[in-house]
Amino acid sequence: MRRLAVLHHRHLDWVPALQEAEPRLEIRGWHPRDATEADDRWLAEAEALFTWRFPEGFLTRMPKLQWIQNSGAGVDHLVGNSEIGAGIVITRADGAFGFWMARYVVGHLLSEGLLVDACRISQAATAWNSKLIPEDLSGRTALVVGFGRIGRQIGRALRELGLEVHGFVRTPRTDGEFPLHGTADLPALLSGARMLVLCAPLTGATRGLVNARLLANGHAGLTLINVGRGEQVVTADLLTALDAGRLGRAVLDVFPVEPLPADSPLWRHPKITITPHHSGPSTPRAMVPDILANLRRYAEGLPPEGAVDRLRGY
Ligand code: GLV
Repeated sequence: MRRLAVLHHRHLDWVPALQEAEPRLEIRGWHPRDATEADDRWLAEAEALFTWRFPEGFLTRMPKLQWIQNSGAGVDHLVGNSEIGAGIVITRADGAFGFWMARYVVGHLLSEGLLVDACRISQAATAWNSKLIPEDLSGRTALVVGFGRIGRQIGRALRELGLEVHGFVRTPRTDGEFPLHGTADLPALLSGARMLVLCAPLTGATRGLVNARLLANGHAGLTLINVGRGEQVVTADLLTALDAGRLGRAVLDVFPVEPLPADSPLWRHPKITITPHHSGPSTPRAMVPDILANLRRYAEGLPPEGAVDRLRGY
């Protein structure tokens, strides 16, 4: 039986789910915190690893490793890890993320547009405030940076709400459904945009993308939603832009350091909404369908499909 090691903070959920999905594999799991307790003799024969993060040095205990299945969409923490030999295939799982992240983006946009907070304040004061008119989002512009499976789904959901959606990709190309641009077009489009959504992988091209230079084109009616990676936004520049009215609001689900440290000024800023990196699903139910084909291939002795391009970064 081929072995699949699971090193994951939710290994108790993942091991039974993966085992049910592919009973032909021998699967054992550990919390990364307890990695030292893992059976070295067993690990030495395992050729596959399902993980999010693993402790430094762990891979030396898996000399036969051929395949790492990431338990999420973003692989920036893996592609940059020099402990992962060049011959090891990394695969990601993003199949269900688009739906979840589309709900997240739409939910936060609508709660703003429908003035949910203001209505609750009025309610607390027993005040019938007929000035609280929902915002008309029709024809407003949404810029979505990162337009793979996830970004496109977000784009479609926003389009259903009446917004005009522009996608931003690494290599601009013609698309039958949405205008797609390179990020060089961002500054020009930002000044007329209602929202900027980040859902791109973290690469050299997206690190620090939202900075003072870009935000100089922003305005008080612009909302930033970041479901990509925290490092894509320069925190100090974000705060300055919010205070200077070059950005109206920021909804942040991802941060350079997670959990977000208690002393971060982001926690207390009135124009920022913080959520605990929950916009994507990390549940077996949502993700197993996406990795099932490769689990089967592994059980049958075939190489995994859909390898991450390490140079590209995703
Ligand atoms: C979560 O951020 C993921 O990349 O899956």
